[in-house]
Amino acid sequence: MRRVIYAMFVVATAGVPLVPGAHAGEPLEQEAAELAREFVGRLKPQLKQAMAEGGPTHAVEVCASEAPRIAESLSAESGWEVRRVSLRQRNASRATPDRWERAVLQQFDQRQLAGEKPADIHFGEFTGESYRYMQAQGVEGVCLVCHGESVAAAIATTLEKYYPDDRATGYHMGQVRGAISVQKPVNQEQR
Ligand code: HEC
Repeated sequence: MRRVIYAMFVVATAGVPLVPGAHAGEPLEQEAAELAREFVGRLKPQLKQAMAEGGPTHAVEVCASEAPRIAESLSAESGWEVRRVSLRQRNASRATPDRWERAVLQQFDQRQLAGEKPADIHFGEFTGESYRYMQAQGVEGVCLVCHGESVAAAIATTLEKYYPDDRATGYHMGQVRGAISVQKPVNQEQR
């Protein structure tokens, strides 16, 4: 009889994490998703304004200074580490993915090829001492000006000046350009 009860217990709890609070990852995922949205929400208006005011060449300079500033202030405000990464970086010093990020970016490319929209592509999990999360950034019309196949000569010149090793052109609409990557150290109770 005891064995039967034990067997029933095992069946009933199969798939249910045995650590109390094991679903606590969900608020972390929401926080991470919110940070990624906030990053884009702060950068895009600045990019558009810079392009309207001074043209794309000026916008390149704004992008080069504002994107890291936004990442820094979001990190300071939230306690998360916030950055952008890509498999084909423009700024290798900031955007080179680590091993985990590289694997997730590869998975994102696969998912996009399989028909998912970049806006819907994200992934989060606990790794070692941290919770990590990435949100894909899709290529839209406005991105092609600086990341597309035929970049205007004036922009190409500016890009070359700032990024002699630029690998971030030649993209098409709808591709995954890169991702916002956020992580936060977590202790055992938060898992
Ligand atoms: C005016 C030119 C310009 C436009 C338009 C533009 N970008 Fe960029 N992008 C840049 C520059 C410059 C950098 C490098 C910034 C830095 O130094 O960190 C960059 C970097 C990035 C990165 C970080 C990874 C890397 O390669 O360094 C991502 C992701 C990215 N852009 C996505 C986009 C998306 C998505 C759009 C459209 C919504 C877009 N960009 C539009 C100029 C542009």
